[in-house]
Amino acid sequence: MILIREAHKRDVKWVYSLNKKLFQEDVWSRESYEYALTSRHYLFLIAEEEKKLCGFVVGRMVGIEGEVLKLGIAPEFQRRGIGGMLLKRLLEKFEDSGVKEVFLEVRLSNIPAIKLYQKLGFEEVGIRPFYYGKEDALVMKKGLSVFSQ
Ligand SMILES: CC(C)(COP(=O)(O)OP(=O)(O)OC[C@H]1O[C@@H](n2cnc3c(N)ncnc32)[C@H](O)[C@@H]1OP(=O)(O)O)[C@@H](O)C(=O)NCCC(=O)NCCS
Repeated sequence: MILIREAHKRDVKWVYSLNKKLFQEDVWSRESYEYALTSRHYLFLIAEEEKKLCGFVVGRMVGIEGEVLKLGIAPEFQRRGIGGMLLKRLLEKFEDSGVKEVFLEVRLSNIPAIKLYQKLGFEEVGIRPFYYGKEDALVMKKGLSVFSQ
């Protein structure tokens, strides 16, 4: 059974090494993940199955705005619904904290992630040219309350 829980300091080593495997130029430093653990503006969640770490998500919120900053699932756990579970839990936590709109940026070529975000109700709202060096970012948004959709 998959368990979604808050991240702890002991998880950072694993998260950092997975992030080096999954991301290219947009790898985060160990310190960035450690900061996400301590700042009240950040949410940092882990998915695990029988004590084995499967994936993580980091979000940030400022006032009524939330942002999905990092989402990664270990290759052997991909395509089992875990990315969706982590994101849903993040969105619930955002909503509980009063967030009304959630934004994210994703590489235009990252079809798996775009499909996942669309499945969870995110819509395309624009492009940030050359956001990832040579590659553009797609900006997506999801309203969390009926008033902002
Ligand atoms: C993108 C990522 C987080 C998806 O996580 P996941 O746990 O494998 O996704 P899920 O199993 O929850 O998939 C949910 C939906 O997303 C879409 N999806 C996920 N992986 C896909 C793939 N390889 N190809 C096409 N669609 C895909 C599908 O619509 C899927 O629903 P379905 O299985 O019913 O068809 C994962 O592939 C990953 O870690 N990728 C590398 C890091 C990354 O790109 N992170 C996001 C940008 S920061």
